[in-house]
Amino acid sequence: MGRVAAAGAVLVALVVLGAPPGAGAELSEVFQEMKKGECYFINGTEKVRLVERYIYNRVEFVRFDSDVGRYEGFGPFGEKQAEYLNSLPERMENRRAAVDTYCRYNYEISTPFLVERRVPPSVSISLVPSSSQPGPGRLLCSVMDFYPAHIQVRWFQGQQELSEHVVATDVVANGDWTYQLLVLLETPAQRGLSYTCQVEHVSLEQPLRQHWEMPPDAARSKMLTGIGGFVLGLVFLALGLGFYVRKKSS
Ligand SMILES: *[C@@H]1O[C@H](CO)[C@@H](O)[C@H](O)[C@H]1NC(C)=O
Repeated sequence: MGRVAAAGAVLVALVVLGAPPGAGAELSEVFQEMKKGECYFINGTEKVRLVERYIYNRVEFVRFDSDVGRYEGFGPFGEKQAEYLNSLPERMENRRAAVDTYCRYNYEISTPFLVERRVPPSVSISLVPSSSQPGPGRLLCSVMDFYPAHIQVRWFQGQQELSEHVVATDVVANGDWTYQLLVLLETPAQRGLSYTCQVEHVSLEQPLRQHWEMPPDAARSKMLTGIGGFVLGLVFLALGLGFYVRKKSS
C-alpha cells in the first residue's frame, strides 16, 4: 500500500451569509471558513503526517503540520492566530499526539472498508471511428469502476505486447470511491488479427483478458453472396438449355 491521503473525518465548512436571504432575494456575499484535517500514510501506519488547515474564502491562513510541530500563520491575521494557538499548552499537546490519537486511530478503525476495499474493474473494448484518419477506426479499452486507483492496462496483438502507439487517460476518480481509465490503441485495427486488452489489479486473482477481432465485413459478404447466386443461376441456365437442346434434337 503506497500513500493513502485521507481527508479525515473532521471537515467543517461554515458558510456565513452576508444578508439573510429573503424569498427570491439575491445573496450579496458569501463568506466561507473551512477547517481540514489531513492524514498522510506512508507504508501503512509506518510513517504518518498530520496537517490541520484553516481556510478563509479559499485562502489558508493558519496550519499545524506534524512535521513542523507547531502552528504556522500566513499573513498578519494568520500569524497572530498561530502565535495564540502555540501559546495553549493543552492544545499543543493534543495536536502533537494527533498522528496517533487521530490518524493512526482512524486508520485502524477504517481499515476493513477503506484500506482493504477492493472493487474489480469491468473491462470492455470498442471500435472508435477516427474522423481525422482513414481506416476502420481505433480500439479503445474502457476499464471502469475499480478501487483502489493503482492499475496496469496493456494491449496485445496476438502474443505481442503493443507498448508503442498506446495512449491512456489519467486514472479518473468518479467521486464514489471508484476510478476509471481509458486506454486507446492509436494504430488502426486490422482485419484478421486478434487484439487483447489485459488488466492487472489488486482485486483480481489473475490478469483479466478481454479479446477483440474485427467482425466480418458485411458489405463484402453481401457482394460475395450475390456473385455466388449469379454463378449458380448461370449453371442452372446452362443445364436447362442443354436439356432443352438435347430433347429438341432427339
Ligand atoms: C513497510 O513496513 C513494513 C513493516 O510494517 C516493513 O517490513 C517494510 O520493509 C516497509 N516497506 C518499506 C518500503 O519501507
